[in-house]
Amino acid sequence: MSTERTVSQLFDLRGKTALISGAGGWLGSAMSRALAEAGANVITSSRDAAKAAECAAALPAGGGQTHFGVALDHLDEASIENGFTDALLRAGRIDILVNNGHAANGSDLTTVTGEEFNRSLANATGYFLLARKLHDHAVARGGGASIVMIGSMYGVVGSYPEAYEGVVPASPVAYHALKGGIVHMTRHLGVYWAKDGVRVNCLSPGPFPGPAANATMVERLTTKSPMGRMGRPEELKGALVFLASEASSYVTGQNLLVDGGWTAW
Ligand SMILES: NC(=O)c1ccc[n+]([C@@H]2O[C@H](COP(=O)([O-])OP(=O)(O)OC[C@H]3O[C@@H](n4cnc5c(N)ncnc54)[C@H](OP(=O)(O)O)[C@@H]3O)[C@@H](O)[C@H]2O)c1
Repeated sequence: MSTERTVSQLFDLRGKTALISGAGGWLGSAMSRALAEAGANVITSSRDAAKAAECAAALPAGGGQTHFGVALDHLDEASIENGFTDALLRAGRIDILVNNGHAANGSDLTTVTGEEFNRSLANATGYFLLARKLHDHAVARGGGASIVMIGSMYGVVGSYPEAYEGVVPASPVAYHALKGGIVHMTRHLGVYWAKDGVRVNCLSPGPFPGPAANATMVERLTTKSPMGRMGRPEELKGALVFLASEASSYVTGQNLLVDGGWTAW
């Protein structure tokens, strides 16, 4: 009898529990819905407990899943500890972590202070500390896990100065350092944790400007896109579920770019 699973079985997240940070954000909310729509129980996190709970309550639960929110600030080690412990106590187990939250700092290379630069890089520390918590939990309970780091095309390429000039600050130098670091940390953790059954991959969005983005900058970015348009948050859903699920069971340490071809030319 064949043990080969069907495509629907491979992408199915029913029975799995996923924790996603920054769940109420522009991309985080679409990715939270993706996890719920694929059948997962979703733990939404925000720095604000009430907002986290609101995000959870808004998710579809047609498969009888349980969603709930936890407070978590990944720049604060005590908050990571408390948030993860709270999530685990309430859920019993966690199978998937999506490190999506991002404490932004808009200062570019002309103005950024050392303190701001370090604070930006601390997002990577938060991603790591949370990833290690999930790894240790998965090993302790004797099961696998999938960790998805949210990177960026700016972790792989520099930006076009003329897309920003005279309109907004340049894309922050600390952001490029941070996202490049996250892409590479993914490789390191992917290798070290492979034998534990814990897969670590990075999902790097291209340009997905939110409604508040500067219109002139967006127009200029559009001319740099092979597809001639910006990404829509729903266009991350398939890639996220692929990396979170058994559909990518032989994929670890990789960076999947969803960028309309931005990094291809
Ligand atoms: N939008 C794009 O074009 C684009 C492109 C490439 C990569 N990305 C990446 O995609 C991810 C989501 O971006 P987005 O555009 O959806 O941004 P967003 O709407 O600003 O959402 C970011 C989220 O991060 C959370 N956050 C802020 N500080 C945090 C902290 N200290 N600890 C934990 N969470 C924190 C915020 O949640 P709370 O306020 O609720 O805590 C917020 O909802 C980021 O990692 C970003 O770098 C975005």
